[in-house]
Amino acid sequence: MKTNKLAVIGVGHVGSYVLADAMKIGLFSEIVVIDKDKDIAFGEALDQAHATALPYMTNIDVYAGDYADCADADVIICAAGPSIIKTEDNETPDRAMLAMENGKVVREVMEGITEYTKEAIIIFITNPLDTVVYIAENEFNYPRGHIFGTGTMLDSARLRHVVANNYNIDPKSVTGYMMGEHGLTAFPVFSRLNVQGFGEEELDSIFVGKEPLDREKFGQKVVKSAYDVLNGKGWTNAGVAQSAITLTKAVLLNEKSVHPVSTTLQGQYGYHGDVALSMPCIIGRNGVEKQLEIELDERELELLHKSAKYIQETMKVAET
Ligand code: LAC
Repeated sequence: MKTNKLAVIGVGHVGSYVLADAMKIGLFSEIVVIDKDKDIAFGEALDQAHATALPYMTNIDVYAGDYADCADADVIICAAGPSIIKTEDNETPDRAMLAMENGKVVREVMEGITEYTKEAIIIFITNPLDTVVYIAENEFNYPRGHIFGTGTMLDSARLRHVVANNYNIDPKSVTGYMMGEHGLTAFPVFSRLNVQGFGEEELDSIFVGKEPLDREKFGQKVVKSAYDVLNGKGWTNAGVAQSAITLTKAVLLNEKSVHPVSTTLQGQYGYHGDVALSMPCIIGRNGVEKQLEIELDERELELLHKSAKYIQETMKVAET
């Protein structure tokens, strides 16, 4: 009987958290850990193997390996390369600054994977995420939908947290998401945000808010919150790792969940294969099974085009 196998590529701060979350979710019988630093891969795998002897853990065959071990992987999660960089002047670092370095990383990773498989569903975390997804999806003749990125899944969680924190309610009671770039130009789709049906115009009268809802201000709070984490602990990992595991579960269990993830647009909003960005997608056993072109209001559409333009400029930096 085929059991579920995961490959985690890149086990730095992000990948090691992905590995820990994957071990605990108990959906995999086999996990291979791949890193260019073989000692790190070995240590991370052995550390997790020890944990399988403890209560509540699944007995998972977790080991350090290489790309050949991706041959029968169901899902591959890639967090290889630096995720966010701190600039000397401590200005807000832009993930786009990683385009040249991680453009090379994603090509190396995809060369490694495609030598052994074009079946696995590949979920990217590596930044600049949308550029990385675009390269992986469009330079290696991989089945459409089988590659996508966590995109604004994490930004959307941060949006729900910002709104919930303002009104002192459970973030899981907020329905709402960000679209566009996983980065400085990500924008909230406030025209669709609601709390159990109470829309943008009603929230300030239904709930007692710390401050009135303001699209621009709240959108900036979301983008800034990544840097609040970065400046606090030096990196981010928990939120994006959980985002990746949530998507992995949707794939493995064929959940048909709808999440904002980054994929190459195939005509949506007027983009025909020339940019990857986050929009609502149905996620199932075949990865991105459908991109859902939600109608945006005028301001949101303007922000989408601004974001797409910024991503395309970043893509140019990563070109070989
Ligand atoms: C962040 C990284 C994953 O936003 O880009 O936390």
